[in-house]
Amino acid sequence: MEHMDIHSWSRPDLVRIRHLELDLDVRFDRRVLEGSVTLHLDRFSGDELVLDTRALEIHSVENAAGFDLGAADPVLGAPLRIRLQPDTAWVRVRYSTSPRASGLQWLDPPQTAGKLHPFLYTQSQAIHARSWIPLQDTPAVRVTFEAEIRVPEGLRAVMGAEMSGSHFRMEQPVPSYLIALAAGDLAFRTLGPRSGVYAEPALIDAAASEFADTEAMIGAVEEMYGPYRWGRYDLLVLPPSFPLGGMENPRLTFATPTVLAGDRSLVSLVAHELAHSWSGNLVTNATWSDFWLNEGFTVYVERRVLERIYGGARAEMEAVLGRRQLDTEMAGLPEADRVLHIDLTGRDPDDGCTLVPYEKGALLLRTIEQSVGRERFDAFLRAYFDHFAFRSITTADFLAYLARELPNPVPVDEWIFRPGIPAGAAEPYSDAFERVESGWPADTSAWSTQEWLHFLRSQQPPDMPRLERAFHFSDSGNSEILHQWLLMAVQTGYQPAYPKVEQFLKSVGRRKFLKPIYSELMKTPEGAARARAIYAEARPTYHPIAQATIDGIVS
Ligand code: BES
Ligand code: ZN
Repeated sequence: MEHMDIHSWSRPDLVRIRHLELDLDVRFDRRVLEGSVTLHLDRFSGDELVLDTRALEIHSVENAAGFDLGAADPVLGAPLRIRLQPDTAWVRVRYSTSPRASGLQWLDPPQTAGKLHPFLYTQSQAIHARSWIPLQDTPAVRVTFEAEIRVPEGLRAVMGAEMSGSHFRMEQPVPSYLIALAAGDLAFRTLGPRSGVYAEPALIDAAASEFADTEAMIGAVEEMYGPYRWGRYDLLVLPPSFPLGGMENPRLTFATPTVLAGDRSLVSLVAHELAHSWSGNLVTNATWSDFWLNEGFTVYVERRVLERIYGGARAEMEAVLGRRQLDTEMAGLPEADRVLHIDLTGRDPDDGCTLVPYEKGALLLRTIEQSVGRERFDAFLRAYFDHFAFRSITTADFLAYLARELPNPVPVDEWIFRPGIPAGAAEPYSDAFERVESGWPADTSAWSTQEWLHFLRSQQPPDMPRLERAFHFSDSGNSEILHQWLLMAVQTGYQPAYPKVEQFLKSVGRRKFLKPIYSELMKTPEGAARARAIYAEARPTYHPIAQATIDGIVS
């Protein structure tokens, strides 16, 4: 399975990293990681090892015949070319990161819940690992690793790996985008025999109660798709500036605190990141054009988990919400971005991250399931995870395997290579949502978060004052409902909610929430002025990848 990844300078077909040893100091005073990485090599041909780097300062390369740091490309960063002696099996690079490394966020104490200690975390997907480790930053290459991480007294470092004190070890080979580190004032609470949660002490109780179903979720996926292969499954709740909902770092999912709703209503995120332990972490997209193999499979598995734990009605609501959001987003996308196998030539893979790989991908799998029956489809998926375990595969690999193992009448090529949703697609349906749509509601006491979201989205046009009087959405403690409400406030120019809009944009860094609100504000001159004023203040508190996204919207 040798494929060129256009988002990496590396040539793993010539020389390939097999194992790495990190030795790093976390320097909060200078906002840098500093130390070395020792790279153990498999050599196939030639005497050059090419690594990816971005904004790294390279101090020296040991056990090599020389090195050269090339010119930086704006998307890819700079290639580090290392000349090898004929029998060299390892090299050691001494380096430090930039304070503006795209894969790191350094938080000052005021940006944390406890307000007393600084916090650092990494976000390596898609191509940011290279901003904190010089390596072959392509999902086609898998490495095992060990790490020794030194943090200031009183703080704790955690990694997506087996942990013992300051030492970390990952014995299963993982792609670079799954290497993850965080450091801060962290408490731990056990959830189950092989699961637990890390969070700042102020949040640990809320986190442990929100994620109480984690162990049951692990069991649910195992029953369907085979054993969990990573030993432990822990979660880490990050400060609110975390730009994502969640990130599936192996053994240690990183999660936004905005899912702590108090009623477990947003734990589909846990089901999602956990599902990646099969789709993504075990069977990995070989290039970022194959990203739908990671996310589409994961959303499919996520909904199957929800069905088993919370019932079919809940899973179906999530499917309908996803289907509607997909249509809304696709309407604004160029045709080339409405296909599953996406052309990313000249682009940052982060830009290709829309709902298409997620929801269209999941809908394709559901359509195949519908066509062959659930039993056969589950047997296929189980065998697929097993067959490709710990490997990185392309869309072509999947297509060949599907044709061989599960012949079916679904026009799979059309789904993957052509824009839009083909005829014959499965159609998620929720009768609960049907009731939500039938006029002004009489009794909402038993409504779920999903019903509230559907209710808000089906108000066309919304009577904002009446909605606020009846349901006080501006005071919602549920981040998804509040976000939907504030977005509608901006869409309709509902001034009474504007202070809340400002407060929200200044306190949350989750890109999925920021992007729609800033985009909507930019549609009017007054809104644009407001967006600029808010962003001027909020920008320094956002993660570099959220900054990059919002820089492209607010100008
Ligand atoms: N792996 C993704 C996050 C990601 C995607 C990071 C692309 C960088 C580039 C993660 O599993 C994910 O999909 N997170 C979602 C939440 C999920 C519940 C749909 C998110 O962060 O919004
Ligand atoms: Zn995902």
